[in-house]
Amino acid sequence: MTAKNILILPGDGIGPEIIDQAIKVLTVLRDEKSVALTWELGLIGGASYDKFAQPFTAETLNQAKQADAVLLGAVGGYQWDNLPRELRPEKGLLALRAGLGLYANLRPALLYPMLASASTLRADVVAGLDLMIVRELTGGIYFGQPRGIRTLENGEQQGFNTLVYSESEIQRIAHMAFKTAMKRQNRLCSVDKANVLESSQLWRDVMETVAKDYPSVELSHLYVDNAAMQLVLNPKQFDVMVTGNLFGDILSDCAAMLTGSIGMLPSASMNDKGQGMYEPIHGSAPDIAGKGLANPLATILSVAMMLRYSLQQSQWADRLEQAVVAVLKQGLRTADIQNTDQAVVDTSTMGDAVVTALRELA
Ligand code: IPM
Ligand code: MG
Repeated sequence: MTAKNILILPGDGIGPEIIDQAIKVLTVLRDEKSVALTWELGLIGGASYDKFAQPFTAETLNQAKQADAVLLGAVGGYQWDNLPRELRPEKGLLALRAGLGLYANLRPALLYPMLASASTLRADVVAGLDLMIVRELTGGIYFGQPRGIRTLENGEQQGFNTLVYSESEIQRIAHMAFKTAMKRQNRLCSVDKANVLESSQLWRDVMETVAKDYPSVELSHLYVDNAAMQLVLNPKQFDVMVTGNLFGDILSDCAAMLTGSIGMLPSASMNDKGQGMYEPIHGSAPDIAGKGLANPLATILSVAMMLRYSLQQSQWADRLEQAVVAVLKQGLRTADIQNTDQAVVDTSTMGDAVVTALRELA
């Protein structure tokens, strides 16, 4: 069996320290020889800029294209915030998404029962929460042209971006969302702003058309403002939500906090070849970088998604997720998911605990 090769991109801020914990987990899997694995490290974001004066290079794109899967930490930091937009770390992440054609971003929001009290919402509102946001990731206003900052005739500056979705872009994310719903509870809510935006009107029309191919899935629509309200009012009404790039960015942060901490949520981004990139949905948190405060569980759970979706190792994915549940049951908490009566552990201790639990589940 040829080994599966993973490209690991630690990135910036807390990226390297959370990725270190994921590597501990991958090392267990590799050493047990149940999964034939190799990995290599690459540069993205500020880390790449510091070496090559570019947040993303052809070398990294090449490495990513050759890999069976990509695991990413996070990008961004204060020291790069004043660079021209094209050179900022975030641009590196966007270039990776675009370069691999990772149009479908799956962001599950799952509440672990032991963390119900870590949410700012009442436990009865969030207990049992299990929803999946399917975010379109390579289109919409993030990539639309024209864009820029121009000077008007009166000398005033004007910033502008373009929100554009073509039929084929909407169709492929729709198919991904309906298929995702079929593996869950067969309910799909499409989120748009069709009362104001033409791009959303087309989005809604295409969703309705694609729905005909999936008669077992119940399709509903919400305007994005209402969807945001419903997410905090009654989040358990949702099974799968599908939405465009910008709305998905916003709603997934909102959904993350329902689960207690954004430090818990993994994500998978897929292209039409089934290649995937896996990353926690949180950012690089430069304010806590290097202090051992970061929660590595979102990254470790991203490894589980990678095992399931790219490496066809669903048993290992299950086992890793069980190991995470086990450490939470033991009461281990990083600062972001701590209760007043619980002791806080640091990033590395949390990683070690998952490794121990994983070995015990063998
Ligand atoms: C995310 C992040 C990124 C995004 C940033 C870092 C470019 O917020 O993955 O949600 O906006 O997509
Ligand atoms: Mg975001």
